Amino acid sequence: MIPEKLKKDSPMSKSHFKFMVKHFEKRDKEYPPLDKIRKTKIKEGSIVLDYGCGPGSYSIAAAQVVGDLGKVYAADINTLAINEVKNRARKKGINNIETILTNCNTNLDENSIDVVLLLDIYHNLSDPKSVLEELHRVLKKNGSLSVDDHHFKDDVIISKITSTNLFKFSERKEELFNFIKV
Ligand SMILES: C[S@@+](CC[C@H](N)C(=O)[O-])C[C@H]1O[C@@H](n2cnc3c(N)ncnc32)[C@H](O)[C@@H]1O
Repeated sequence: MIPEKLKKDSPMSKSHFKFMVKHFEKRDKEYPPLDKIRKTKIKEGSIVLDYGCGPGSYSIAAAQVVGDLGKVYAADINTLAINEVKNRARKKGINNIETILTNCNTNLDENSIDVVLLLDIYHNLSDPKSVLEELHRVLKKNGSLSVDDHHFKDDVIISKITSTNLFKFSERKEELFNFIKV
């Protein structure tokens, strides 16, 4: 069931999405997605959830690292994002990405994910608590949550995630904050 507050979240328009894709193309040239993935706990064979995947820069990079033994679930509220991830994966011959259209619930099994990516999305969420509860549910024991959101100061993002008592802060790797499931 969709939490009441999350009904406020809605997919961005086609023109806004196109603008975002162009912006991320420039971003990814300057800051290659693989560099960020290397700051997470993702390794060969990992099962990853990229929550709020957008056009899929990090889903694709993660899929390359996890390889055939692993898998990436790319989740987003917007069908434009879901279709873009599918197109990019097909063009690159990547077949270990599965997409999920959602605004919170993933329908993934409990304790099934090694690493969750929550990159540049926290500020978008009208009910972050419900999303964090879902991410906590699907993460394995000692699973890792990697968060990056330049809209918040460092101490603010750490306290927003840890104040739920679902995750404890593990380490900072430049712009990226890694947490462990409590
Ligand atoms: C700024 S983009 C970041 C995309 C990607 N993580 C990246 O850094 O390249 C934020 C994405 O979160 C998605 N989003 C916003 N609210 C969401 C929600 N409640 N559930 C799932 N996705 C959501 C948007 O559709 C958008 O694609």
